[in-house]
Amino acid sequence: MFHSVEQSPGDPILSLVEDFKRDKRAEKVNLSIGLYYDEAGQVPQLACIRKAYERLANTWDKPELYLPMEGLASYRQAVQHMLFGEESEAVKAGRIATVQTLGGSGALKIGADFLHRYFPQADLWVSRPTWENHIAIFAGAGFTTHEYPYFDPKTGGVDFEAMCACIRQIPAGDVVLLHPCCHNPTGADLSEAQWDVLIPLLKERRLVPFLDLAYQGLGSTLEADVYAARAMVKAGMAFLLSNSFSKVFSLYGDRIGALSVVCQDEETAERLLSQLKVTVRRNYSSPPVRGAQLVNIVLNDKELARLWREEVAAMGARIRAMRQSLHTQLSTRLPGQDFQYLLAQRGMFSMMKLTPAQADRLREEYGVYILRSGRVCMAGLNEQNLPPVVNALAAVFST
Ligand code: LMR
Repeated sequence: MFHSVEQSPGDPILSLVEDFKRDKRAEKVNLSIGLYYDEAGQVPQLACIRKAYERLANTWDKPELYLPMEGLASYRQAVQHMLFGEESEAVKAGRIATVQTLGGSGALKIGADFLHRYFPQADLWVSRPTWENHIAIFAGAGFTTHEYPYFDPKTGGVDFEAMCACIRQIPAGDVVLLHPCCHNPTGADLSEAQWDVLIPLLKERRLVPFLDLAYQGLGSTLEADVYAARAMVKAGMAFLLSNSFSKVFSLYGDRIGALSVVCQDEETAERLLSQLKVTVRRNYSSPPVRGAQLVNIVLNDKELARLWREEVAAMGARIRAMRQSLHTQLSTRLPGQDFQYLLAQRGMFSMMKLTPAQADRLREEYGVYILRSGRVCMAGLNEQNLPPVVNALAAVFST
């Protein structure tokens, strides 16, 4: 019966992780998937999460019942405070519908299914390039997808003019997926001044912004990284925001995130929440409990929340230090080449000027794993693996 089922070519990111695990070389370096590693090369358990686990320890002998479809109430509220600010008028007015989701991907899926059900004519627009799974998730939900120009390989930054020119042509009602900070895969972000131009344009064109936020606090501060979302609230716009806690709480396997939909008023938000619940029920019924409990304990405790903010700030600072070191060492080794873009790009990733063949060479000859698109995970670098990585990059760049 299943004879006609074809072999999938595999996911461009997750297949590399499998290849990396199989690689027997001791000196191999994983700069492919978006995992934050500490200076010792370990994916850390955050101290705030360890403390949260201690508080959960006396509950191990009680069974966990199903969470409601929308997730843990206190977690959902903490998420709104973190994204929009405790004093946000929209939060206080109750005009944001938030559901707990299975990481950021789960939030995208729930958002995509919901949008396609209510606005079947709407297409999706993503940046060129974007995280591959954006296209897969929305296409899977039934969307036709298009790209708007975004990354300029010549400068390593955003081609903002071309981006706006395209957005001016997008039909009203279409969905535009945007990265509020730490663009994946390029690290090229819009400045606040550029958001200030783009937001009125999106509003005037009556487009539906869908912000995907997976790295809040790793680009700049926790507040600065949600500038776009808060500016959209101030502009009185309705929009969707998916957020993931995988990286910033180092809770990858717990699959914890949220989808928030900012509405015009509380009554609409209530109706919308009822439909998000239906969408969750049809997909996986209700979300898992552990990740929500952990994040909830941290965000709702002053002391643990302060500790978490410090830990996120330290992660961001370490990534920036690695960018600086990579820039210095590559510029010394290859004085004719300009690596300034490494310093301007932000967050976990940088798009380096490498061809798929060069990426293959890095992997095959040197055990340095990066995506074939040229995306390099800066958060996988440390003082120890930097010299061999620089050697490998210098060899590949100079031949
Ligand atoms: C990435 O882009 O590497 C991460 O978001 C992990 C993933 O699932 O692709």
